[in-house]
Formats: sequence, structure tokens, C-alpha cells
Amino acid sequence: MNVQPEIVVDVHLTGDDLRQKLAEDVRRGLAGRTKRIPPVWFYDETGSRLFEEITRLPEYYPTRAERHLLARHRSQIADIAGADTLVELGAGACDKTRVLLDAMTAQGGLRRYVPFDVSDDFLRVAAKDLRAAYADLDIHIVVGDFHEHLGRIPSDGRRLVAFLGGTIGNLVPDERRRFLFDLNCTMGYGDHLLLGSDLVKDPDRIVSAYDDAAGVTAEFNRNVLRVLNRQLGAAFEPQDFEHVARWNHQDQWIEMRLRSRCRQTVAIDDLDMAVEFDRGEEILTEISTKFTPDQVERELTDAGFVVDAMWGADDGEFLLSIAHPYC
Ligand code: AVJ
Repeated sequence: MNVQPEIVVDVHLTGDDLRQKLAEDVRRGLAGRTKRIPPVWFYDETGSRLFEEITRLPEYYPTRAERHLLARHRSQIADIAGADTLVELGAGACDKTRVLLDAMTAQGGLRRYVPFDVSDDFLRVAAKDLRAAYADLDIHIVVGDFHEHLGRIPSDGRRLVAFLGGTIGNLVPDERRRFLFDLNCTMGYGDHLLLGSDLVKDPDRIVSAYDDAAGVTAEFNRNVLRVLNRQLGAAFEPQDFEHVARWNHQDQWIEMRLRSRCRQTVAIDDLDMAVEFDRGEEILTEISTKFTPDQVERELTDAGFVVDAMWGADDGEFLLSIAHPYC
């Protein structure tokens, strides 16, 4: 008899919770002089589609570089991990995953895929597709915030926890330390972490990756204002803000900003707020840190990991690291 494996969904963060978090972030982020909106709010349906488009741009090298590394080293990754469970943090549309799922299935032990993200919109659709392609795989969706709900990810079995795309670079050093340490605390003997980080390189290449000729990244950046309009009754005119991508040499990260083209006041009805902008004033919408391989190794070690292997350190584009908790 054929037993149909299940799709389980655990929701630790509802749509209401999310909207409240957005409200808090916006209230705090736009009240003062240095204005900021955390990058997690880019990814509504339009934002996620625009990001997909970014990954196909000639200038945006990280996705291709990471995919190459995954394809090239997948069997080694699967062997080192020897996992029965693949956990993917920030899974989104779950598309990078297939390379890993294939390798881990071929290696023999894979039973379960656990995508984790703040919204289940994409996870549910992706899970159905994956179900069709990997008939024997249990899929356990976890909807949560990785500052809060890492401990809710199923911890039984032998797990490979993947955090790919270079998304760790969106965190400032303190947040990275906290995140890696928290993650380490939820991991046990036999578990591994697979981390993707973008590497420091010629600043011109980095800047063009975040300021493409076709203007897709500019639209992606401005889309966060549409999210505020829809979710919080804000009255932003996205075209009144210019996309800025700037290399911050001191902090070794690229900054995306939205610069007000004019002096203006923008109402955010649901928050009873009116935000004033001088002409040229900017909102920081994302940092994307670029690392050296030594720095990644140091940060992993400081958080309690032992690095098993690193790939990509020599060609200088992108880095994949696999590590396990020191215990
Ligand atoms: C999905 C966070 C890895 O930082 O490069 C792409 C997002 N921002 N273009 C990145 C992004 C602008 C991307 N991450």
C-alpha cells in the first residue's frame, strides 16, 4: 500500500502578527532623523517576483555563483551532512533547494524537508510542487520569525540547516552574532549548517549588482513603499523616491536607500503619523554585507561552530560554508 507523506504546516506568526511587526518597525524606523525600514518588508508578492527577476539579471552575480557552487559540491555537502532532514531558513519560493534535495535524496537518507519563512504564501505553493517532484518526502512548513521561532523548528533526526543566498549579510554584526549563536543553541550532535555568504570584491561590480541597468532593483526597492501604502494606509508616491545603491567601505556592505526627490510630508493613516522628508533625505532600506572567507570562519567559530568545509573562497565570488556545532 502507498502511504501518502504529509504536508504539515506550523504557524507561529499570523498575518495579523506580521502587520503588527510592520507597524512597529515603521513607527520606530520613520519617526526619527535617520530613517530606516528593515529589508524583510520587501517581500510581498510583487517584491518576491521582482527579487526573482533580479536573480536573472546579468549584473546580479550572487544567485548564479551560489547555484554553481551548490551544483558542483552537492554530493560532498550531502555526504558531510548525512542528513535525514533539510531545514531551509528564509525558504521563500524554495527554488535553490532542488539541487540539495536531489543530492540528499541520491545520497539516500533524506526523509523530510522543513522550509521556514515569515510568510506561508509561497511555501504552500512551493510545497505542492515539491510534493509532485519528491513523492516520498515529508514536508513540514514552519511559519515564523528567525529572531524568535528558531526553537520551534523540529529538532529530531539529523538535520542540514541551510541559510542561503547571502541573506545573512542583511544583518548587522550584532544581529549576526545573536542569530548564529541562537541557531547554534537549537542545533545538536549530527546537525550541520550550510551557509551562503557573498564575498568582498571590486566595489563597482557590487554596486552594479544593486543598481542594474534595467532598473529592476530600483523597482524592488521602491516596492517597499507600496507595501506600506497597502498595509498601513500610507500615501507614498514611489516615483518621488530615487533608488540609491552605495558601497559603504567602512562597514563593507552595500546600502540601498530611497532618496526623496522633493521636500514632502507623507501621511501614514493607520499609524496616525505624518513623516517629513527634506529634499534629498534618505531612508535606509537594506544593507547587504560582503565578507572575506576568514571573517565568515571567525564568525562561525565565535558562535560555537566548527567549520567542516568552505567552497568558493578562491575564485572570490561567493562562499558556501558547512559547519557543525562544537559540543
Ligand atoms: C536576498 C537578501 C540575499 O542582499 O543581495 C537583491 C536581496 N537586494 N538586490 C541581497 C537583494 C537587492 C538579496 N538577498
